[in-house]
Amino acid sequence: MEKIIRIRRSGPLKGSVGISGAKNAAVAIIPATLLAQGTCILENVPPLTDVHTQCDILSALGAKVQWLDATTIKIDPSQAVNGTPPEGLAAKLRASYYFMGALLGRFGSARTGMPGGCKIGPRPIDQHLKGFQALGYDWNVKDGEVILQPGSNDREDIYFDLVSVGATINVMLAAAGLKETTTIENAAREPEIIDVANFLNKIGVTVRGAGTGTLRISGDARRGATAHSIIPDRIEAGTFMVAAAATGGDVTVKDIIPRHLEAVTAKLRETGVTVVEGDDWIQVQGPVRGTAIDVKTFPYPGFPTDLQQPLASYLAICSGTSIITENIFEGRFRYVDELKRMGANIKVAGRAAVIEGVEELLGATVRPYDLRASSALVIAGLVAQGETRVRGVKHLRRGYYDFIGKLKGLGADIELI
Ligand code: UD1
Repeated sequence: MEKIIRIRRSGPLKGSVGISGAKNAAVAIIPATLLAQGTCILENVPPLTDVHTQCDILSALGAKVQWLDATTIKIDPSQAVNGTPPEGLAAKLRASYYFMGALLGRFGSARTGMPGGCKIGPRPIDQHLKGFQALGYDWNVKDGEVILQPGSNDREDIYFDLVSVGATINVMLAAAGLKETTTIENAAREPEIIDVANFLNKIGVTVRGAGTGTLRISGDARRGATAHSIIPDRIEAGTFMVAAAATGGDVTVKDIIPRHLEAVTAKLRETGVTVVEGDDWIQVQGPVRGTAIDVKTFPYPGFPTDLQQPLASYLAICSGTSIITENIFEGRFRYVDELKRMGANIKVAGRAAVIEGVEELLGATVRPYDLRASSALVIAGLVAQGETRVRGVKHLRRGYYDFIGKLKGLGADIELI
């Protein structure tokens, strides 16, 4: 039987909540351990289904993966072979494409299936392939598999046509196996990229410029073991900040890097939220009723696309008209129909969603179609009159560790039934 999240209007969320390690860093660093020649200990790993799937793929390739405790994994990649990630696993998530770069970096060739992941519009991998080609690899796609082999082309510097988190990380991993220096221009600058770069530097690869638009990567044949702690999940943190704002609560979000959340903090302040920042925490005090704002999603350090969905639930009950412009994924407004079923007044035109704030949302049974839509609908449920039932819990488990338990700890009336 499918599990459903039942939420009743909960009043202001209050208290403090600890944030887990970043999913989007963990799902990249797990494949990256293939590049190490010794055992890697990864700490602060969020035990999410996407993370378990990456571990299962690694095990299927012959690496030894052992959970030492709830958030620590020991990976011995020494016995891994250059196999194809099992299709049933690779198709479960987007980040399985990091095995292309990791296998190329380790073995100099790779054969992988097409990645899966949230259905948020077309998600091509042309920039990943362009990057591999510039590193000197030929690629072709046959029977749904991408085959990458050493080619005859000269190596070139890489200039990405657009800023892509996935392509930047994937090409970094492949370049880590090459002794010559690779330059990547128009690289993504997300904190998760810096985390992957830090991991690679620890095993003996030299990565310079992480966090800027230009990366320089020089591999080293002698890549060693390391221990690495995954950075905090800024998207999980931002989701709790929005939930606090929407419920007019007073919540301290702990174990985070406040700098990673500057765009979110700035936008919440514009709506009337009080935000106080500490060294590794942010306190959010929501207003009685927030005011409308305009938000545009952009690559980091812009407002993250992963938080536009949760934010929309809050803006749906702010006073005035808000406009969200989604510049990263054109299909990321599918949740709007579900919010409308709860009484939200939202019109989508192309890449913009125009939100007329309503006094109140009404509980309903809703079905999110992707990960961040799930948290958006849970936030809507927290402020809606009556009872809300959110189906499709599997999406939530892919990206939020113990989301329901953490919300309960803040006083939310929420349970899995
Ligand atoms: C990653 C994150 C995801 C986040 C997104 C943007 C992971 C596992 N996922 O996704 O949570 O929402 O960054 O911050 O880290 N594009 C191309 N060609 C390519 C690659 C991308 O056209 O080869 C386009 C995409 O369709 C999209 C934009 O570039 O419009 C950005 O995508 P990208 O940064 O690659 O997102 P992901 O790495 O898939």
